[in-house]
Formats: sequence, structure tokens, C-alpha cells
Amino acid sequence: MKLWGGRFEKSTDKKVDDFHSSIAFDARLYRQDIKGSIAHAKMLAACGIISGEEGDAIVKGLESILDDIDKGKIEFSKEAEDIHMNIESLLIEKIGDVGKKLHTGRSRNDQVALDIRMYLKDEIDEISSLIATLQRVLLNMAKEHQHTLMPGYTHLQPAQPITLAHHLMAYFQMFKRDWQRFRDCRKRTDIMPLGSGALAGTTYPLNRNYVADMLDFSDITDNSLDGVSDRDFALEFLSCCSILMMHLSRFCEEIILWATKEFDFIELDDGFSTGSSIMPQKKNPDVAELIRGKTGRVYGNLISLLTVMKSLPLAYNKDMQEDKEPVFDAVDTVKKCVAIFTDMVKTTKFKKDNMKAACLDGFLNATDAADYLVGKGIPFRRAHEITGRLVLYCIKNNKDLQQLSLDEYKTFCQAFDKDIYDHIDIKNCVYQRKIQGGPSPQAVAQAIKKGEEFLQSIQG
Ligand code: ARG
Repeated sequence: MKLWGGRFEKSTDKKVDDFHSSIAFDARLYRQDIKGSIAHAKMLAACGIISGEEGDAIVKGLESILDDIDKGKIEFSKEAEDIHMNIESLLIEKIGDVGKKLHTGRSRNDQVALDIRMYLKDEIDEISSLIATLQRVLLNMAKEHQHTLMPGYTHLQPAQPITLAHHLMAYFQMFKRDWQRFRDCRKRTDIMPLGSGALAGTTYPLNRNYVADMLDFSDITDNSLDGVSDRDFALEFLSCCSILMMHLSRFCEEIILWATKEFDFIELDDGFSTGSSIMPQKKNPDVAELIRGKTGRVYGNLISLLTVMKSLPLAYNKDMQEDKEPVFDAVDTVKKCVAIFTDMVKTTKFKKDNMKAACLDGFLNATDAADYLVGKGIPFRRAHEITGRLVLYCIKNNKDLQQLSLDEYKTFCQAFDKDIYDHIDIKNCVYQRKIQGGPSPQAVAQAIKKGEEFLQSIQG
């Protein structure tokens, strides 16, 4: 018979058992469920709601079930519906009637809310540390490439020269915000809902703070309706995952571009590329492409749960059982993607000469030529126009700005002098951008230092 079978005259249709059972996926929560139950049982005993011996028997029973599950000795049953009732049934089977006291003052509604919060807190910790590892790799690479010149782009058109370190540190900033976002989401996940009951709390004098302390929560929920029906923290988690994946997908896109024959900025490690079954020459950036693709999957998980939650009346509704698969899938996907991405970038070789050569093609120093004229007292808008005409002249004559003679320069503006060549030297274009947050090695060194401090502050 079902744990809730009392008011029923007929057993559940087999198709319904199959349809509403969540054990196939929520079995993943067994550890949290058992730990939560142990804390609940200890609290029931401490508050005199059950006796000390009863509490001990329940705790022992739960511990041995945890051990059995860890050792793969337990096969869950679909008829028992979900992880909560599976474990409760196993407990009753193991320790007899006293096991029936565990659920006193509790509902699966607050129980599942507790389990998923506990689960997410741990996963957020793991994901944060994977992000920090990726940041460490980027920071170390940036240190090595403070003088590696490369083109910076807007509209994917060559724009101004930068350094590879500056480009890598841009991603460092994105992942720093991702890390912070996950930590922020963790604060709102770290609230203990047990005691909310099914929706309206309970008449038993439970000590909710005691449970929160035992389970290492920093606070308890303030409203029982909200305690069982809030999934904002899961949505926030999925939003954090989506933004993180968006950042990874941008980096992957660049890696894919840089690995093309046309760009030829990088050589991916053989261990992180794949071949073609028909074209023997191919070396494809499949890992980067797959991460880019999996971004869609993670967005899907966010949209899926947002849609499940939309318009749901208070308090618990069974719709909410649909929160788990998107969350679990996002956890698995994000962890795999961050870890493999980290290894992929770490093993990537940068073709410095090609990157530098690309800076010489495409008038990346045109802004600096205009700035040069500003230095000679010409208003910027006018300097911009003169330089634009210079560039057009170069395009028509198949030259670049460095190759023009001073006479040619002077026909466009008398203010040009021989120091123009130094001023528009690609390396100088970068080195002159000393502004805080800019690409000069000096400014990037500051950013690296700040990044180093950040990593030290989070890793202790
Ligand atoms: N398996 C359920 C879920 O994940 C647990 C809560 C069930 N509560 C209920 N009233 N049916 O949401």
C-alpha cells in the first residue's frame, strides 16, 4: 500500500504510477534527503515530540540506508513514487513502526524544497571552484602574453591593436562576475524551509533553527506558503548557468574562428580536436563547438523552469516536480563544459607571429593617426576626417599608413611630421593606451594584479 493510501479504495493505475513517479531522476537527492531526515528526527527528539530512543532508532536506520545506497545495495521502487517516499518506506521496512514517526510535522512539500536547496548549495560550491580554476588558467596565460600583440575587433572587423593578455583578461572579468553571481544565488538558496509543512506550517513545536544549524543553513524561511512554493533560487541558479554558458560560448566562438585557416591565430591541442571520417586533412574544433551548442541546452533548462513556474497558484503544485530535470541537466552540463573548456584553453598554442602580422593589415593604427593630429592641435572630428581620407588613399594605392612618405602625409595635412611613424607603430599604439582598464602592458599588469588578489581572496 502507498504511504498515503488511507483515503483510497482503489490502487493507482499502473500508467499513473509510471507517469507521476520521479524516482528515476530524484534518486540523485538521496544523500540530501537522508541528511535532512536525520536532522529532522534529531530535532523531533530534542523537542520531545518523539522519544530519545525513537530518535536514535530512526537516525541509525537512516544511516544504514545511506550506507546501503552508497554501496549500491538498494533498488528504488517506482511505486514508492519519489526519493522521499522510497527512503521512508525503506526505513519502515528496516526499523518497523517507529519509522512511521519520522514524517511528524513535515510534508514532502517542505522536504523536497529542503533537499533541492541542500543539493544546489553543494553544486554551486563545485561550480564556483571550477570557475576559479578556469580563472587561474586565464590569469597565468595572461601573464605570459602581456606583450603578445593581436588585433582587437568590433563588428568582427579589425579595429585597434590590443594584447592577447588584455583579451584573456576580458574573459577573466566575465568569469569573475559569474563566480560572484553564483555566490549571490547561493545566499538565497541557503535558507531552510523545513517547518513550512504542506503549506501552513505545523502545530508541533518544531525547532526550525536547530535544524538549520545542523544542516548548515544560515537562515530559515519566513513564510510557510513561500517556503514550499518558492523556486526562485533554482531559477536564479539556471540564470547564472545560462550567463556562464553564454560567456563560454563567446570564447568558444572565438576559438573556432581563431583556429580557421583564415585567422590561423591558434593551434588547438590534438587531444582537444577531432578529425573527419571522410576528409583526412581535417582538424576540427569539436569541443568548442559542442560547448557552444550546449549553451542552447542550458538556456532551454532555464526557459523550461520559468515556464513551469509561470502562473502557478500558491502553494505547492505537482508541476513543480518538473524543476528537477532542468536543474540536474544544467548542473551536469555546466560542470562538464567548464572543466573541459579549461583544459582546452590551457593546451592551446598561440601563433604570435600570425597575430602580430594581422595587426599590420587593416589600418588598426588609424585612430592613432587621428590622435596624432589632435596632439598637433587639430580638433578630433577634423583629424578623423583627414585620416579617413588618408586611409582611402592607401586603399586605392595598395599601401598601409606606415608606408606613406612624409610628403604624401603633408598633402593631407601640414601638421604631419616625421614622428608620425613612431606614433602609429602598432606596438606603440598598444603601449600608449596606458589608461586604467586599457591594453598597455602596464595597465594589463594592474588588472592582472587585481585578478590575482581576487583569486587569493576566494581561495584563501
Ligand atoms: N516528488 C515531489 C516533487 O518533486 C515531492 C513533493 C510531492 N508533494 C505532493 N504533495 N505530491 O515535487
